[in-house]
Amino acid sequence: MSIQDEQPLEGGNASDGVVRVGDTVRKPWVRTTPAVHELMRTVAAAGIDVPAPLGRDEQGRQILEFVPGRLAMDSPALTPPELARVGRMVRSIHDACEGFTPSAPTAWEPLLPVPEGKADLICHGDLAPWNLVLGERWVFIDWDGAAPSTRLWDLAYSAQAFTLNDAEAPSELAAAHLGAFVDGYGADANLRDRLPAAMAERTEAMYELLQQSHESGREPWGSMFTGGHGAHWRRVSDHVAAHQALWTRALNSTVVP
Ligand SMILES: Nc1ncnc2c1ncn2[C@@H]1O[C@H](COP(=O)(O)OP(=O)(O)OP(=O)(O)O)[C@@H](O)[C@H]1O
Ligand SMILES: [Mg+2]
Repeated sequence: MSIQDEQPLEGGNASDGVVRVGDTVRKPWVRTTPAVHELMRTVAAAGIDVPAPLGRDEQGRQILEFVPGRLAMDSPALTPPELARVGRMVRSIHDACEGFTPSAPTAWEPLLPVPEGKADLICHGDLAPWNLVLGERWVFIDWDGAAPSTRLWDLAYSAQAFTLNDAEAPSELAAAHLGAFVDGYGADANLRDRLPAAMAERTEAMYELLQQSHESGREPWGSMFTGGHGAHWRRVSDHVAAHQALWTRALNSTVVP
């Protein structure tokens, strides 16, 4: 394969050297990759559309199916029914991951570990608009950060990323979007009660990760902190924390199954 056939893929931050080669994506192979591909196959077997993991190339990189479309991050804002659809996708991914353990012991590396270490579910960990391809198919990509988590911790991040990621947006509208997303997920009363505080905690944890990485020189997060992500997560974390009562009202004014 000549270098000319490789087309760099923009849009990510965490991995260097993500390229497209024909109908495939090549991405670095890391220690957790065998378990991640096993997880992706498990999720696919439950009927969820994920990029097919296609093994390893001659340079030792992951080969993944290229999914045509545009990232949700670069698409027009999702409508409430579309947000509900994404919420349903997150729910079906969580359900499909239930009971998954990799066949070989795996040293998972959660970027943001669950508070108090109460992880009980292997989760994607970054189910966000920058990892959702919208096209004929709607597909979450970038499974490499999968790690032990919980439904609450993973949903908190995902719901926030899809509905509360713009501190300048009218908060009543954002709250309605949050309600649609969580309705789509079909969250029970317990999850709804705990979600606002978990979203505040998780956004703050994200900010602290970036800030501490900046101080300790841990890349790529250290550079992301100064490159705008630090200021973004500071604003969003304050916004999510300040309006918890509004989020709670929105989550409880919708239909609880
Ligand atoms: N299977 C795929 N199908 C289509 N496009 C893809 C696929 N995998 C990656 N891409 C494109 O390449 C970009 C970078 O890939 P990816 O998100 O996997 O890398 P990353 O650097 O780990 O990202 P992040 O910063 O979100 O962790 C994506 O934003 C997307 O545009
Ligand atoms: Mg990505």
